[in-house]
Amino acid sequence: MLSLKLSNYKIFTFMAQNYTSNPSHYFKAYKSNTDRAPKKKLIKIKNDINKRQLLSKLYKNFTINNNLLCFNKNKKPVGQKIVIKGNVTDTSGVPLKNIIIEIWQANASGKYRDKNDKHDATIDPNFYGYGVTKTNNIGNYKFISILPGAYPWNNHKNAWRPRHIHFSILDLNFFSRLCTQMYFPGDFLLNDDPIYNSIPKEHRNKVIAKYDNKKNKISNYLTFNFDIIL
Ligand SMILES: [Fe+2]
Repeated sequence: MLSLKLSNYKIFTFMAQNYTSNPSHYFKAYKSNTDRAPKKKLIKIKNDINKRQLLSKLYKNFTINNNLLCFNKNKKPVGQKIVIKGNVTDTSGVPLKNIIIEIWQANASGKYRDKNDKHDATIDPNFYGYGVTKTNNIGNYKFISILPGAYPWNNHKNAWRPRHIHFSILDLNFFSRLCTQMYFPGDFLLNDDPIYNSIPKEHRNKVIAKYDNKKNKISNYLTFNFDIIL
């Protein structure tokens, strides 16, 4: 039987999503969303501390070290090289360590390595487009990638998604997952994007990364900062 010393693990409390900064589940202008948005009231997950402790224990055995989306084995993708870095904290500002962050994105020409991606753009054999890492002891994370391209989609006439990177952030108990998208400052496509516009106006700046080359030690990468609050 697995026995756990309670003091070794931080027990998170599951937060039913009630943040005013979140988009509503149903947002009419985002067409494919209207079919899959829940029509019924959400069900609260039971607060099961034992399961969380077990998952925390299992989680500690994971080895996650793939924050290079494309630069393995000297294979260099096409595109502007970027660093994405940031800090993960809880709502009180306490840094969270060992938080799993996954990202996925299109390549420089706006193409995903996915057979369902019908965009007539080039696949880059040197770019995979997926990475996963964990926050360190002070809640910091970092990815090295390339600037994703914009791509067209069928939401409305002449619709193009702005450059973006998808983020999934799991907290230690796996019961809370934040899925969001990171955008780039100054992108002229943002104003017409219904996914971006589904976020309440006063909170949209939170999903735009900050250009941060002042602290950058790697001269040939553009650096963007994207902090996350769970
Ligand atoms: Fe996307």
